[in-house]
Amino acid sequence: MYLADRWKDYEVIDASGGEKLERWGKYVLIRPDPQVIWNTPRKDPGWKHPNAHYHRSSRGGGEWEFFDLPEEWSIRYDELSFRLKPFSFKHTGLFPEQSVNWDWSAERIRNAGRSVKLLNLFAYTGGATVSAAAAGAHVTHVDASKGMVQWAKENAAASGIPEDRCRWLVDDCVRFVEREIRRENTYDAVILDPPSYGRGPKGEVWKIEEAVFPLLQLINKILSREPLFVLINSYTTGLQPAVLSYMLGTAFAGRPGKRVEADEVGLPVSVSGLTLPCGASGRIEF
Ligand SMILES: C[S@@+](CC[C@H](N)C(=O)[O-])C[C@H]1O[C@@H](n2cnc3c(N)ncnc32)[C@H](O)[C@@H]1O
Repeated sequence: MYLADRWKDYEVIDASGGEKLERWGKYVLIRPDPQVIWNTPRKDPGWKHPNAHYHRSSRGGGEWEFFDLPEEWSIRYDELSFRLKPFSFKHTGLFPEQSVNWDWSAERIRNAGRSVKLLNLFAYTGGATVSAAAAGAHVTHVDASKGMVQWAKENAAASGIPEDRCRWLVDDCVRFVEREIRRENTYDAVILDPPSYGRGPKGEVWKIEEAVFPLLQLINKILSREPLFVLINSYTTGLQPAVLSYMLGTAFAGRPGKRVEADEVGLPVSVSGLTLPCGASGRIEF
């Protein structure tokens, strides 16, 4: 498993009964997690006294119940700084399990020994962007949501990323890659973390099962002469590690010497010593 086990400011304290108990800096949150289908005794005192609790509703959504939580605060990962803010759909503005992918990408960027142009698609609040830029890459960050792109810019500034290191774009990811093919603009590395369902800024519909493989085929056309890697992450049930491996192996079939690997992504759970599964990632190196 790809284990995100280097956090100091974040921890999954416990997980039981469809929820996880997490520490984000000095604040403790309870959030739903559909993977937690076991029901172990809730012994940690944090379960009784969280700073906020996101309750699922039977209608599908849910809402936050706040006890003692600032409107926003920040946590660090090494030299990186991320602003957190509880908002819709139980989000906080960061997927901490992605740190294992940030580390993997950063290592490859640092070891490249040359300037690296990286494209981050469905880039959200910029965890992967900021980490890659801190490792020295020039990053093109694409997301459909203006608010998310603004948030990512703030994370980059707070992390001390030089302004000329990132290009920020509010765009539909498929449309953007199609345009880059026409412009013959290429990238040494691509990261993508697509949702199951989403919409581009002009209402373009993204359905992962239909669109992800064609997008990987398009990405194959914008890789530079000597590409480094493509990394895909997914929380979508059904896109298991083997599926991600086959997709990467097939979409980039014509490239000699490629190495594909994929695995589940997980976070350690402090109380039980178990690992909380958080989706899967596939990685291809050239
Ligand atoms: C949060 S990430 C996905 C993380 C995780 N895989 C999940 O499912 O929650 C999804 C991001 O993709 C963006 N997005 C969704 N559809 C998009 C599209 N068609 N083009 C560009 N960005 C899109 C959203 O704005 C959001 O920031």
